Amino acid sequence: MDIRHVMKHSRKLVFCCAGSDCKKSGAKLIRKELKESLQEGDLKGKVKLIQTKCMDMCKSAPVVIVGDHFCKKTTSEKVLNQLKKP
Ligand code: FES
Repeated sequence: MDIRHVMKHSRKLVFCCAGSDCKKSGAKLIRKELKESLQEGDLKGKVKLIQTKCMDMCKSAPVVIVGDHFCKKTTSEKVLNQLKKP
């Protein structure tokens, strides 16, 4: 496949834990805020949010993974900052 084609459609994957401890720590709000923030601006259409089950890092809840970076005890702001890093 043509590499340009792939690049054009490349999206960053963001894994949001939806396990019970992360939920208790505000994961739902993080997902909602991320969804809203990703509807506009530079990141629009470039990020795919994926919900996961417990990732066994409950002590660090809420947990969100951006690419290969673990955002622990995170906020939507921190996740967005991580996404904006090159
Ligand atoms: S509930 Fe999110 S890591 Fe366990």
